[in-house]
Amino acid sequence: MKLKNLFNLLKVLPLFLLIISCGGPNESDDPIIIPVAKVQATFNMSISPSDPNVMLFDNKTVGKGEFMSEWDFGQGNGFVEDLPGIEEIRFDTDGTFTVTLKVTNEAGFTEDSKTVVVNNGTGGICPNGNCTSNSSSALKDATTTFFVGNITRASRINAGGKHTEVLKSDFSSITSEYEMKMNVMYPSQGNYDFSAADVIVNFGFDNAINVHGHALIWHNATPDWVKDFAGSDSEFEAMVKDYITTTVTRYKGKIGSWDVVNEAIEDGSGNPLRNSIFKQKMGDDYIKKCFQWARDADPNVLLFYNDYNMASSPGKRAAMFKIVDSLGDLIDGVGTQMHINYNFPSKSNIQAVADGTVSRGLKLHFAELDVRANPDNDQTSLTAERADEQKAKFKEVVQIYNSIPLDNKYALTVWGLKDNETWLIDFWGHIDWPLMYDDNFNKKKAYDGFLEGLQ
Ligand code: G3I
Repeated sequence: MKLKNLFNLLKVLPLFLLIISCGGPNESDDPIIIPVAKVQATFNMSISPSDPNVMLFDNKTVGKGEFMSEWDFGQGNGFVEDLPGIEEIRFDTDGTFTVTLKVTNEAGFTEDSKTVVVNNGTGGICPNGNCTSNSSSALKDATTTFFVGNITRASRINAGGKHTEVLKSDFSSITSEYEMKMNVMYPSQGNYDFSAADVIVNFGFDNAINVHGHALIWHNATPDWVKDFAGSDSEFEAMVKDYITTTVTRYKGKIGSWDVVNEAIEDGSGNPLRNSIFKQKMGDDYIKKCFQWARDADPNVLLFYNDYNMASSPGKRAAMFKIVDSLGDLIDGVGTQMHINYNFPSKSNIQAVADGTVSRGLKLHFAELDVRANPDNDQTSLTAERADEQKAKFKEVVQIYNSIPLDNKYALTVWGLKDNETWLIDFWGHIDWPLMYDDNFNKKKAYDGFLEGLQ
């Protein structure tokens, strides 16, 4: 028999058997018992209108006879009996949870499963698993009196996609995360490499996005050949002058500002200048010399001094303002990095940096804002509560910045687009969510906090 005919016979065999069993002579008068069918489990779910972290589950199973319903809400508690009415279940931590309804009768059981996605950064349980902030307005459209900035890299610009899409949609300024520093632009004596910097500057210029140059002189991004400079101090100074003049001249008219010197002040008490190779070879007035060379190269570019812990360390803040005062009209602005925590430093200390800068008639750049949500490494995910606290800190920082006089405004730059790109994870060695977008470029509550700070 051909395989095809055998297959056709097998298809009708059960019906044939059923007819025999029903139509043939019945050896007894017992009623024919048709086996009970399984009951199909089915449920609906909806986010509580009163709490974005509560899901409502409604058992919609319909079936004949007795059956039992059980739930597994995907939070590690296994199956629990279905209670009468709507089940209200909290989902407080970020993640993806599989919820299963199991319905059992004498014929066996069936299941219905649905997925609950939680992202507290974008407001809690995500409608239909789509985690996006409610904010439709772009940051840069709402930020009309100063640049709102973020960082970038040549590789990310060249790759395009969401990185450049978000930069163009939400930001009016960009800073090179690392490729406009001396160790990248001047890798060996007499050998400049502006290839990456050109990509970044040209992207900004082509898309009418301001470019903030960061940073001409920084002890942490000084090439080894400079640290090990074999020539005389005067030859060293001539080399630094040539580097600053060449670099600032190259981007004249294409970028808005430079961090001429970054992090020149020691941490700790007394806050003297760091004993960098620049201080050793050029003397304590190396900072003024660098500002002068940058000014000579481009009279129109804004020149900043940039440093960290300006808000959290009054001593360092005082040392910074002493340097600023010594530069006279060579300096246009102060960059305070703003690598802060959700709960530190205080509003008054952040305000003190703004007040000191404004009182000197200088521009203020909140230059590298990120807000650690897990500074004590006691969180495994961004909870709703911590996301709200982080949002409040973003709002506070933006309110302080937005309240300074127009003439003192320049830019508020966030140091990273999405959480999993932050430098903080490598630096501190543990997870954190310090930025305004989650790992999938969804806007978090922190993004809403920025917008609310502008109101
Ligand atoms: O992308 C290259 C990769 O191709 C290469 O294989 C690898 C090994 O050399 O290096 C990678 O580049 C690294 C880059 O980060 C991207 O990960 C650089 O080596 C590394 O030096 C660079 O670190 C940057 C650091 O400044 C030093 O420039 C961080 O991204 C950047 O977030 C950090 O930012 C600083 C600010 O400039 C100043 N304020 C503090 C802030 C945090 O340290």
